[in-house]
Amino acid sequence: MEKSIKVSVAGTGYVGLITAAIFADRGIHTIALDVDKEKVAIVNKGETFFFEPNLEPLIKRVVLDKKTLRASTDAIEAIKDSNITFICVGTPSIKDGSIDLQYVKQVSKDIGEALAKKDEYHLVVAKSTIVPNTTRNIIKEIIEQHSGKIAGKDFGLCMSPEFLREGQSVQDTIFPDRIIIGYIEEKSGLKLEEIFKQLYEEKDDDFSKIWEQIYHKKVNCPKIIKCSLETAECIKYANNSFLATKISFINEFANICERIEGVDINQIAEAIGLDFRINPHFLRAGAGFGGSCFPKDVNAIMHFAEKHQYNPGLLHSVIKVNEHQALRMIELAEEKAGDLRGKKIALLGLSFKPDTDDMRNAPSIKIIDYLIAKGANVFGYDPEAMKEAKKDSWIGNKISYAETIKEALDAADVCLLLTEWAEFRKLQPTDFKIMKTPILIDGRRIFDYKKFYEEGIQYAGIGLGNKK
Ligand code: UDX
Repeated sequence: MEKSIKVSVAGTGYVGLITAAIFADRGIHTIALDVDKEKVAIVNKGETFFFEPNLEPLIKRVVLDKKTLRASTDAIEAIKDSNITFICVGTPSIKDGSIDLQYVKQVSKDIGEALAKKDEYHLVVAKSTIVPNTTRNIIKEIIEQHSGKIAGKDFGLCMSPEFLREGQSVQDTIFPDRIIIGYIEEKSGLKLEEIFKQLYEEKDDDFSKIWEQIYHKKVNCPKIIKCSLETAECIKYANNSFLATKISFINEFANICERIEGVDINQIAEAIGLDFRINPHFLRAGAGFGGSCFPKDVNAIMHFAEKHQYNPGLLHSVIKVNEHQALRMIELAEEKAGDLRGKKIALLGLSFKPDTDDMRNAPSIKIIDYLIAKGANVFGYDPEAMKEAKKDSWIGNKISYAETIKEALDAADVCLLLTEWAEFRKLQPTDFKIMKTPILIDGRRIFDYKKFYEEGIQYAGIGLGNKK
């Protein structure tokens, strides 16, 4: 890769830290920026502050061995010293569901102030998920105001959304299935295209070898789609809204199936997934979607649409069905166990999905709220997320935490399985026999229900027609 490229990345969340680390792993000098001194110190020790498969050795390699990545709190200095800045800061939701752009605005100001102090061309790339018009009307405006320079002339401006999944974010960053480049004018777009082509260049180097060995795929540049800034912003929302819609669709159908004896939503999903127009992915019925993206992004685009006099009826339903899925877990528990007051409820899985300790918008939060309101005693177990759950302002010490699956299940009245961690998949019907009453509500449909029925477990699963 061209040695003159120097990258700065604002924000050390999933998108920022991993983007920075991948550039650094390809030999590019990269600075990861964060306002949080503790996070910066951890990265500079070659360590990580969140759990993500394959991230730890990557950070160690680029910080301590290759010395191509360092972290800093000094945004202005870092931006001045680089020639491309990626904006990867968080865009959380405000209470009404709209997007909070305070971090994007702060970074844009930093970029503006840094650009005021340098003469060379600088490329700014927005990667954060931002509602349409934000790049042009907010980022561009703030940078121009603080730098005295003109976008498209003195500095380049692009919008390139990120589609990585937590738990697979290293893999998704190295092997993206497409790259979107929204650009303000030709030069910015060409510049970013060139940078991505170099980053993902197919060549026989250590970078390619290491990642091919881990993921059994060859590093190469995927299809690049070039478009306006606004189209790029919309692509991200359309993508996430569509995936959330698929999940709510299958959950709605699962709820219908539960009313028909002998019907299994998993077989329906398998069958319809074979229709190439539908495809088999994101059709797993369950306790609902959570995470830092789907709930936030669907709400943000709905809010945006309403502000522009459009009522997004379909998206409202997507959220409504999802809210109901958490309650459905409680209903299934009550159908089997009756009143939950005073009962010990074992929750297996707290994170919003496996392979992450992320608790943001996890269905477990809503489910715990319902259970506590019903007077149940909740015992949670999660292989990675208990530390985060303890910190969560909603859950915190409202529940007890079990050190092992066995401790959670021991003498429990009901078990709710909420996250499909690999270690839960190994559980056998006998493991549930230590419960006071072996009632298992499978919120991710990971078990062979026939085997569980045969072994005397009172099993109920999302989308499984009631066994009378
Ligand atoms: C998502 C998008 O997939 C990613 O492209 C975007 O950049 C960020 O948001 P992520 O939130 O990490 O990624 O997780 P994902 O794997 O998409 O799962 C989101 C939620 O949907 C999880 O709670 C998961 O359990 C749920 N889900 C997913 C289902 O309930 N059923 C499915 O079939 C798939």
